Amino acid sequence: MSPVQSLNVALGARSYPIHIGPGLLADTPRWLPLIAGRHVLVVSDANVAPHYLARVQAALARHVHASLVLPAGEQEKTLQRFGEVMTALAQLGASRDATVIALGGGVIGDLSGFAAACWMRGIAFVQMPTTLLAMVDSSVGGKTAVDLPSGKNLVGAFHQPAAVIADTDTLATLPARELRAGLAEVVKYGALGDTVFFDWLAAHVDALLVGDTATISEAIARSCAHKAAIVARDETEQGERALLNFGHTFGHAIETEQGYGGLLHGEAVAVGMVLAARCSAALGLAPASDGERLVELLARFELPTAIPPGLSAEQLLARMRLDKKAVSGAIRLVLWHGIGQAFIAPDVPEHTMLAVLRDT
Ligand code: NAD
Ligand code: GLY
Repeated sequence: MSPVQSLNVALGARSYPIHIGPGLLADTPRWLPLIAGRHVLVVSDANVAPHYLARVQAALARHVHASLVLPAGEQEKTLQRFGEVMTALAQLGASRDATVIALGGGVIGDLSGFAAACWMRGIAFVQMPTTLLAMVDSSVGGKTAVDLPSGKNLVGAFHQPAAVIADTDTLATLPARELRAGLAEVVKYGALGDTVFFDWLAAHVDALLVGDTATISEAIARSCAHKAAIVARDETEQGERALLNFGHTFGHAIETEQGYGGLLHGEAVAVGMVLAARCSAALGLAPASDGERLVELLARFELPTAIPPGLSAEQLLARMRLDKKAVSGAIRLVLWHGIGQAFIAPDVPEHTMLAVLRDT
């Protein structure tokens, strides 16, 4: 069997492939034909570029191309950095058939994708994710955005990539903490809709933590299959896609309160999932024991399961009111009836959220 697994995100004329496997950055026959025009801008960050940028640039010898290497981290997912991508596209003389390649984690993917969505009202982009989190989540589905000081991902657009090229060899240089943060988003797929996957993850904790290639590749492919199916049914989050935000309303509030410099996104999602499970139990909608099984699995992945000290429950709740799922100011949460059974709860009482925030 080829070590490369390929899936399709079925969106009619805008369908695209996800390729997952080793050596894909250098496997140019697989991705170069997907780049239609002459101009290519590769956007990466200062941690990723020294390892992988040259491989991508080498493939672009016949294109008019440039590279932009930004500082790394969530604090750089800003309108200012977005402006720098725009300037780089202008300097390249990028025409409407240009392509942006996002080489990096979810920060580079979200930022570059948003730039591609805006340049000349939309040009092509290719996702080359280099973190586990980006391979299993952010590179798939076309959500692009930058943060504002007042909230995560508040400025953005839906803009699907032309392809996702997930070279699993790049995970060799990913710091262990970042790998674990990605595992939180993997657990999310089991928690929200797949008990079999949840149990499979519990049975493979050790292999996943050490980055065993075959096990990690299977986890990526199973996660992408979940995401691709949901995105194909609900591209712009009119309903079911919101389930992918299990734990995110709480998690985003924590990230924003910490000024994007505290917990990593995946870590904040881990805490957020625990909070969502506890809210569900407090409302009598789910057994508390399922929440405790979730805590146990996250802890085995060495992920945080409690709100970091120093954050106020009231402030977190205020942040949650600015979440994109809120309707007319009312917070909508993704809750669950237990492992594998997430649902959208439109009217969770604020006093319940506050009590759970105070106790976690
Ligand atoms: P990230 O992009 O900040 O990458 C994490 C860190 O790892 C960075 O320091 C980066 O430089 C470094 N890094 C990346 N790849 C590396 C490699 N192979 N070797 C060494 N270092 C490497 O963070 P992330 O966790 O990938 O993504 C988080 C972002 O994704 C958040 O902004 C979040 O909001 C977003 N997100 C978006 C979606 C979506 O659907 N668009 C979904 C989930 C998360
Ligand atoms: N990460 C949530 C989504 O893509 O919808």
